[in-house]
Amino acid sequence: MNDTPRDLEFVPLAANDDETVGQWLDLLADLAEAGPLSAPPCNVDMVGSLRCAPPATTLDDWVVRSAGRVVGALRLALPDGTPTARVDQLLVHPGLRRRGIGRALHGHARQLARKHGRSALTATVVEGLPSGPPQDPGPAAFAAATGATRSDVPAGVHQWLDLDRHDPLADGVPATPAGYSLVTWGTITPDEYAVPVSELELSLGDAPVDQAEQEVRVSYARQFETMRVGRGRRAHHTGVVHEASGRLAGYTSVSKTTGNPAYALQGMTVVHREHRGHGLGLLLKLANLEHVLRHEPAVRLLETANAEDNHPMIAVNAAMGFEPYDRWVFWRSSVGPSD
Ligand code: ACO
Repeated sequence: MNDTPRDLEFVPLAANDDETVGQWLDLLADLAEAGPLSAPPCNVDMVGSLRCAPPATTLDDWVVRSAGRVVGALRLALPDGTPTARVDQLLVHPGLRRRGIGRALHGHARQLARKHGRSALTATVVEGLPSGPPQDPGPAAFAAATGATRSDVPAGVHQWLDLDRHDPLADGVPATPAGYSLVTWGTITPDEYAVPVSELELSLGDAPVDQAEQEVRVSYARQFETMRVGRGRRAHHTGVVHEASGRLAGYTSVSKTTGNPAYALQGMTVVHREHRGHGLGLLLKLANLEHVLRHEPAVRLLETANAEDNHPMIAVNAAMGFEPYDRWVFWRSSVGPSD
């Protein structure tokens, strides 16, 4: 290991600190070039993320400077009502690794987690798949060196669909089964679907509906939209309505940042358990892809991720031509009084 710079200085990252934010964005851009395939960071999206946290979550953003330059970054996500702090970003400039900067950032993360009253830290580490390109083993070695262990939470499979190599719409969108009809909407969920979308999202279509929680569930959909709008993201949705009951039986969501016209993110797809087995998941995704391409004709690459034990959704993705690229493995360590 080379000597750790002696002048490391931790600085909170605030959206209105233009100079530090500019250096942070440069760091993210340098990292994107050196790292696994990902959509290039969009500056509007990243600066927006400093102002607009995901629902029921507080973000604590920091950079570490040496010789007046940002050399690393840390984002701690603090979901409400859990004992856990999640490391969403822990990055060291590619030219300055193996000098102890990562270890220093991790020590800072532990101190912050303790300050926020959290007893555990979690992190996601990118690892290779046998069918995908080799990945840097450094992050897993680093996680182990910090004392973290692999969590037994199923890993995520990160997948890409390249529309220049595979056209899932070559045979058109399948017919909608009798008794159902499709609806579409944009970034803002229409009032009539705000409760059902929140319920489907939070329950993944499985848990029974609890009327008493509806207020929270409405605010979930609205908070999510607020975050998207604040980050300059646009979204496109297709829902399926069960005609006999008038209920929303499922929906799917694709979003994209202001920048990177070719890239989009396939987000949540959920079909209520009472309506599974009719091919609605694949129908929703294909119909929504057609809808997306009508509004965003430059989109060529879609990414998505699913828990690797979510075999039905991974099968739907494979049918569309999504290819597994890498795995997102969860690591965990405890935070004690000495941190
Ligand atoms: N290969 C093997 N071991 C490694 C590697 C590597 N490439 N990188 C770090 N380690 C281990 C070593 O044990 C090292 O100690 P040593 O150098 O004395 O042998 C120890 O981790 C600490 O290394 P640092 O020098 O403090 O780490 P660095 O500043 O290089 O940053 C980091 C490591 C953050 C993983 C960097 O490579 C990076 O930014 N990667 C991309 C982002 C990323 O994957 N972050 C996820 C981190 S996982 C987590 O937060 C728990």
